Amino acid sequence: MSELIISSIDQHVGMIKLHRPEVLNALNLELMRQLVEQLEAFEQDENIYVMLLTGSDKVWAAGADINDMASTTMVEMYNRNQFARWERIKKISKPIVAAVNGYALGGGCELMMHCDIIVAAENARIGQPEINIGVMPGAGGTQRLTRAVGKATAMDVVLSGRFLTAREALEYGLVSRVVPAENCYSEALRIAHELCTKSPIALRLAKDAVLKAHEMSLTDGLEYERKLFYMLFATHDQKEGMAAFLQKRPPVYNGT
Ligand code: CAA
Repeated sequence: MSELIISSIDQHVGMIKLHRPEVLNALNLELMRQLVEQLEAFEQDENIYVMLLTGSDKVWAAGADINDMASTTMVEMYNRNQFARWERIKKISKPIVAAVNGYALGGGCELMMHCDIIVAAENARIGQPEINIGVMPGAGGTQRLTRAVGKATAMDVVLSGRFLTAREALEYGLVSRVVPAENCYSEALRIAHELCTKSPIALRLAKDAVLKAHEMSLTDGLEYERKLFYMLFATHDQKEGMAAFLQKRPPVYNGT
């Protein structure tokens, strides 16, 4: 089986590069299998604090693989249940930084929206063009995009299939930062390493709490946040972080 992702480790950062250049990193079933398994392997690896997901210099991912779906029947799609695998990405508790160059379309946009800090290159083009091939988003596009950018922009993007520029995506709150294309990967890696200087357990609980803002009422979300905040007082890292601040020295975290 060919490798459709390339994974490596740089200190505490687990890096994954999508690698199907001949079809603009179209996300076929095998690529998604490899991607999810690698994310889960990094999730289990105590040495990994943060993950970095990237495409190539030219493209993040041009969507689900249309060849996989073109002649598939409704019942086959239903039985295949391919998006169940995406639910496993949602369960990754460690932060995922994305470096997005070029097209992030359809499933590519949906994969990007599963990431936590999104660094977009100036050349990024982001959209949900499924409407142009007779379907609609199926891996969370209508839901996550609407929560990120609001109804007016989500309707525009989903119904017209138009691509947002990186600057538009930043303005609408869909990506975290925009950088020159040649700096996209290095900036995302720099951010990933910077996150590694924080407490790994605090990072995971903070990610959890922010994501819950999309799922809970304000009252429930505030209560959830407070409980996670209190939980951190059972950790070494809370004691270390606050002691280091008071002693005017850098903290040394260990994730416990
Ligand atoms: N699936 C399969 N193959 C794809 C693909 C995809 N999503 N996107 C691109 N490719 C293939 C092309 O067929 C082409 O292959 P050949 O060289 O064998 O012809 C190769 O990648 C290069 O693509 P183009 O020649 O089209 O490159 P371009 O620069 O002219 O255009 C593009 C780039 C605008 C991204 C165009 O390729 C495109 O529109 N791709 C499809 C985008 C799309 O519709 N994505 C949504 C898919 S459905 C989905 O994602 C459902 C979901 O919610 C999960």
